[in-house]
This record gives sequence, C-alpha cells and structure tokens, in this order.
Amino acid sequence: MKRIGMLTSGGDCQALNATMRGVVKGLYGCFKEVEIYGFLEGYKGLIYGNYQKLSADDFSGILTKGGTILGSSRTPFKELDIPTPDGLDKVKSMKETYKKLKLDCLVVLGGNGSQKTANRLSEEGLNVIGCPKTIDNDIWGTDMTFGFQSAVDIATNTIDCIHTTACSHGRVFIVEVMGHKVGWITLHAGIASGADVILVPEIPYDIKKVSDALEKRTKAGKGFSILAVAEGAISKEVAKLPKKERKQAIADAAAKYPSVAYEIADKLKQQFPGMDIRVTVPGHTQRGGSPCPYDRVISSRFGAKAAELIKKGDFGKLVVMKGNEVTAIPLAESAGKLKYISPDDDIVKNAKMLGISFGD
Ligand code: F6P
Repeated sequence: MKRIGMLTSGGDCQALNATMRGVVKGLYGCFKEVEIYGFLEGYKGLIYGNYQKLSADDFSGILTKGGTILGSSRTPFKELDIPTPDGLDKVKSMKETYKKLKLDCLVVLGGNGSQKTANRLSEEGLNVIGCPKTIDNDIWGTDMTFGFQSAVDIATNTIDCIHTTACSHGRVFIVEVMGHKVGWITLHAGIASGADVILVPEIPYDIKKVSDALEKRTKAGKGFSILAVAEGAISKEVAKLPKKERKQAIADAAAKYPSVAYEIADKLKQQFPGMDIRVTVPGHTQRGGSPCPYDRVISSRFGAKAAELIKKGDFGKLVVMKGNEVTAIPLAESAGKLKYISPDDDIVKNAKMLGISFGD
C-alpha cells in the first residue's frame, strides 16, 4: 500500500488537474494499492490537516479542466517560519500531518516559492517530489513549466484581436501581459502576434527608444502599432536606482497608475499628444480555462515521471523538462533561483532581427 499526499500551491494555472491525473494514473500503474490524500488550498491544507481522501475516479475527466480540484493559496516562503495567525508552527504542523497520515510521499505542484517550501520539507526529512507549475515559465532548471503555453496562447489571442481593431482605427495599443519579474509570456506572445515593441522586466526600456520605434512605423506608413508589455516592465532610469529608491519609485508609480501599461501610455502621450493610445489588460484570463494540447501532453508526462520517481523511491526531486526529455533534478538545485530572460538569448536576438524593438 502506498499513501501519497498531493497539493497545488501558489497562483493557479492551466493543467494543474491534468498533472494530478497524470500522477494518479502513473501511481495506479506502478502499485496495486494506492491511497491519495489531496490537501485543500495548497500548503494551508497540509498545515491544518485539511484534506480529502481521493480515489482514481476523482481524477477521471479532469484532463481538460482548468483551475485545480484541490484549490490553491499562497504560503510565502519568506513567512514560513512565522507562525499562523492562530499560533501554529507551519513547518512543524506540516510534518505532523504528513506523519499522522503515514504518507510515503508528498507531491507538490507549484512554482518557485512553492518548490522552495517543498525543498525545505525535503530537508526536514519528508519524501517530496515537485512538479513545475507556472504560467511564467521562470522555474530554474526546467525548459518548460506547465501552464506557460496555455497562457501564451491566451495572450497571443488577445493581441491578435487587438491587432485588427488597432489597424481599423489607426491606434497604438499597449497590451499588458502577466509577469512581474520575468517576461517569458510577453516575449513569446509578442513574437507570436507580431507585436512591434516588447517590453520585459529583464530588459529595462528607454521611453525615447520606444517612441523612436513608433515614429519609425509612422514614417513607414503604418497607421497603428502594438506594444506587448510585461506587468513588471521597468524603465532604465528606475532600474538603475539603488534598491530602496527603486522600490519607492515603483510604489509611487503604482499609486499613480492602475498598472504599468497605463504609465507607459501616459509617457507616450507626453511625447505624441495627438496619438490615439489605448490599453488592454487581459489579466487573470491568462491563467484560466482549459489547458492547450501542448500543456496536456507535458503535464501528463510530468505526472507519469513523478509516479516513476515515487516507485524508485527517488525523492527530493523536481520533475523537469530538458529539451524533449522529462527528467528530474534535486529540489535544492532549483530552489531560490529564477529563470530570467537574458538580452543575449537567441530568442531576443531573433526578435530584434525581425525589427521588434525592446526599447533598449
Ligand atoms: O505567478 C503567476 C502570476 O499569474 C504572475 O504572472 C502574476 O504576476 C501573478 O501571478 C499574479 O498574482 P495574483 O493572482 O496573486 O494576482
């Protein structure tokens, strides 16, 4: 008999259910008897011993279902050693729940912060396997996370729709794409939808350069322009400030504008008073709905790999994708690192060759 705990932690995304289904199908293929304990609302469920005993049937018919059947919440890693409002020691409580249920392994579907916690629990002696979830595709050590391609599809579709109306009305549109610290979705959706300007947090922009790109298009007779801008896009002036002042500048802008796209629209308006500039923010639609076929495939493969690791007793691992291979690396190797875009990445150079401006 194998007793496996499972939880989904952090911001949700497409293919969480598909991954859990993959894990469970894999487990039933590996072991005669399996008991699955699904913790509700992420680590919260593990802390408070809030779980549901699930059967194979509970994972049937959920391959295409968005969200997570277990619910999710954020339990910030930096607050892990701060007791809960009702005074519980989080790590101690999680270990107690694990031991009380006599679990053989805990499978964590989560992003960076959640995998840091998974690593901590592994260091504390629990058997843990991580599966790389996030629309942001910023988990260090994996080429791909599940959720990313689905989010790129949605952001691309939004920009495609904006394209036709921008063209009809001769407008400049700024589409704000999710990604506070990294700009992978913006970069991919921007290229996929033929955006003229792509602004990402990793490549600070100069508003003059952005204006130049728009002017160049006008001079070339193009009546409209599309900017794909990440939530965390940052100007060169702000990026070079010392940390404290930078944080203050970002907070000041957040108090003045609903989000970064509006700030950029305002800056452009000052340069081109006559320009018709509009903002579109698809927001959480990028995390919603059914996973795209690509995500269904990789999440199923990640789930199968997690089951294989459990069978081998190979714990403390994060399931990852390297090229076309699904493999695993130690949780500790990935914990605490983010996978950023580098201005030297091939994909950035390719985009520049296509004439896309990064405002740098
Ligand atoms: O980490 C996933 C993500 O969707 C980011 O792209 C985004 O910046 C953030 O979560 C939004 O968080 P919340 O759902 O808490 O608003």
